[in-house]
Amino acid sequence: MRLPRAPEFRLRVPQLPAALVWDHNAHYHPWLLRQLPAAPGRVLDAGCGAGELAARLAGRAARVDAVDASPAMIERARALWPGAVTVRWIAGDLLDPVLPLAADGYDAVVAVSSLHHLPLRPGLRRLAGLVRPGGTLAIVGLYRSATPADFALEALRLPANGAAGVVMAARGRAGKPHEAGMPVRDPQDTLADLRAAAAVLAPGSQLRTRLFWRYTLLWRRPASPAGAAAGSAPLLAKDASD
Ligand SMILES: C[S@@+](CC[C@H](N)C(=O)[O-])C[C@H]1O[C@@H](n2cnc3c(N)ncnc32)[C@H](O)[C@@H]1O
Repeated sequence: MRLPRAPEFRLRVPQLPAALVWDHNAHYHPWLLRQLPAAPGRVLDAGCGAGELAARLAGRAARVDAVDASPAMIERARALWPGAVTVRWIAGDLLDPVLPLAADGYDAVVAVSSLHHLPLRPGLRRLAGLVRPGGTLAIVGLYRSATPADFALEALRLPANGAAGVVMAARGRAGKPHEAGMPVRDPQDTLADLRAAAAVLAPGSQLRTRLFWRYTLLWRRPASPAGAAAGSAPLLAKDASD
């Protein structure tokens, strides 16, 4: 006899009233922008969606490459930000080795809520491998809650989310104007998975849990091969656990 399958436990973010919904990704853009080198030459926005961050980066970097696997998102980004003339909008899979990216890498690689769309270790290896020596990798990502500490934080997140929604609405900054049609998926990797992958692929990086269902990961790639030997795994290293 087949037993009915137990319902899958999923922690969903309870919906706020529409007027109080706000953009958790955009909330972390200022943190990302603060991590950039002073005058970056080239920046990659990996999984750019509708392009809001790439458009902001255009004001800081000489050139921005903004990649997304969804041609519809790239089309929308192009239409939304016609003034971002230094952005090269690229439709394609970040893991595609023939994607037309800068051959000698980027001063900064940023990714917001996109790493969990990729298999973790190949994805993180790819992003880290695109950072120039001395450059920066800054990720805002989603993770799967799995520990008592994670679930305790979930309990704090709910009232904080509502309170922040009230503040955002009062300041006229509520809403998620670019969300329609954006590809989304539930994160599968836990913080422990992310720490283990980062220890191998971005050694010395800082991973921090954030209040609004996000973590941030910051890695400065050592500037010299000597520094890399001391503090970093080879960028294209394979590890046994992929
Ligand atoms: C949740 S959205 C986040 C978009 C944007 N970074 C933001 O903060 O609004 C994730 C984006 O990653 C893109 N994506 C998923 N897999 C990808 C891949 N293999 N290569 C490039 N982009 C990918 C999706 O098309 C989607 O636009």
